[in-house]
Amino acid sequence: MNTKILFCILGVSSVGLLLQASDVDISKLPPPSTKTGVKYETDIKPLFEKSCVKCHGTEKQKAKLRLDSLEATLKGGENGPDVIIKNSAKSPLVHAVARLGDEDDFMPPKGKGEPWSKEDVGLLRAWIDQGAK
Ligand code: HEC
Repeated sequence: MNTKILFCILGVSSVGLLLQASDVDISKLPPPSTKTGVKYETDIKPLFEKSCVKCHGTEKQKAKLRLDSLEATLKGGENGPDVIIKNSAKSPLVHAVARLGDEDDFMPPKGKGEPWSKEDVGLLRAWIDQGAK
């Protein structure tokens, strides 16, 4: 086989693997809540306080992520922003609480707290889609 063709095949299959690694079936996400005026302070922070800040707050900052202020939440962690403003379906934060994609990224981690309800995931989605204010 011609080496150019061989490298081309290798290239295409490695791109395929990379895509697969971050593959999330967004059709499985619960729909965004229809609530309007969703705000970090009143709607989202209480959810984070209940199930996230013990690992992402003042005491511990797992993956260098803090969720105890709006600013820190938008900044993201060691892998960059976890909130894609106005695009909740693409936001890693939403995938994590909806328990979609890689099991290692589910939040709270398995056995470390109650999984979020569809309603709470929907509220997080509405917040992001409305501009994450
Ligand atoms: C028991 C501790 C613990 C709790 C509770 C927890 N996390 Fe995490 N979180 C981790 C650890 C550990 C990592 C790093 C995982 C890894 O590197 O594979 C992480 C990573 C993350 C990341 C990826 C950050 C990045 O940029 O790499 C996000 C997003 C996240 N957590 C969100 C949440 C949310 C939202 C909650 C609450 C629903 C939560 N976590 C609750 C321990 C926790």
